[in-house]
Amino acid sequence: MSAKVLVLPGDGIGVEVMASAVSVMQKVASDAGLPLAFTDGLVGGLAIDRHGTPLPDDTLVAAKASDVVLLGGVGGPKWDNLPTAQRPERGLLRLRSELALFANLRPAILFGPLAAASSLKPELVADLDILILRELTGGIYFGEPRGIREENGERVGFNTLVYAEHEIERIARVAFDLARKRNGRVCSVDKANVLEVTALWREVVTRVHQAEFQDIELSHMFVDNAGMQLVRAPKQFDVIVTTNMFGDILSDVAAMLTGSLGMLPSASLAASGKGLYEPVHGTAPDIAGRNIANPLATILSVAMAFRYTLNAGGCADRIEQAVARVLADGIRTADIAAAGEATVGTREMGEAVLAAL
Ligand code: IPM
Ligand code: MG
Repeated sequence: MSAKVLVLPGDGIGVEVMASAVSVMQKVASDAGLPLAFTDGLVGGLAIDRHGTPLPDDTLVAAKASDVVLLGGVGGPKWDNLPTAQRPERGLLRLRSELALFANLRPAILFGPLAAASSLKPELVADLDILILRELTGGIYFGEPRGIREENGERVGFNTLVYAEHEIERIARVAFDLARKRNGRVCSVDKANVLEVTALWREVVTRVHQAEFQDIELSHMFVDNAGMQLVRAPKQFDVIVTTNMFGDILSDVAAMLTGSLGMLPSASLAASGKGLYEPVHGTAPDIAGRNIANPLATILSVAMAFRYTLNAGGCADRIEQAVARVLADGIRTADIAAAGEATVGTREMGEAVLAAL
């Protein structure tokens, strides 16, 4: 039986980077004799333009029926003035929630040849390999009540940061399991000195650790300190587990450590193993449609799909090795090129990866 892959290029550079990633996925799967059935759909701004909603019903139905969803990115200036509830981003948030994709894996790995592209000194980031595990279907992103109301003649905006114990337990287990396959260390990031909900977070993470994962080293850090430590000495971390919003922020910081947001893949997993895979970068409207964007984050997201949903770790290794090879050969898109270095376009980078495969 074929595994089902839903391709959602989305907006901006999503369309371009997705084309390269799909070619890579097709080649690697066919070499491995792994049958995949591809379909595509609309999400985000383009879906708003065509269907008046960022997540049309048929896209949601197709996503629910798929094993793997590949997503390029959503949003752009054209839709920036829409109210929060109608924006392209809402399509992505609903997908995460409807598919119960509670575990968001955001690795920050520095490829050796790119050490100079980091904004930190090369010795601070050489061989960096950390994993941010972000809770993705709870917290302040989804908490109720939320809104803007009138109060004493002015408007008051409000959101709710809420976590139930079972939500903390399941993300903690994923963190410890991942750490077991890596370097055995988890740092849980919270704001337990100020927010009750994250005091509960700390307590539950500690309880899960005590009960099931004593072989793993667990530490706790406040989020402000974690932000500081990430730019001061990022290699102290192995797995960082944190809430939805703290993970959103820290994963962008971690991304920059590696020299380019254009390099970072992500996986959003449900308990069933089903996953949505997307680059961490956005839709970069300023360079969209110009064959400039770096497709490697999306290609590396495909590698994660092979590893985490399709149980084909060998295929994932192949893709990651091909990317490493292309970088070692000095092939660069503009975002990862040093000053004066020659650059290639999106398509050429994709072709270079295919050739390396
Ligand atoms: C991300 C993005 C999204 C988020 C936006 C586009 C809704 O920043 O995936 O990190 O905030 O989760
Ligand atoms: Mg973000």
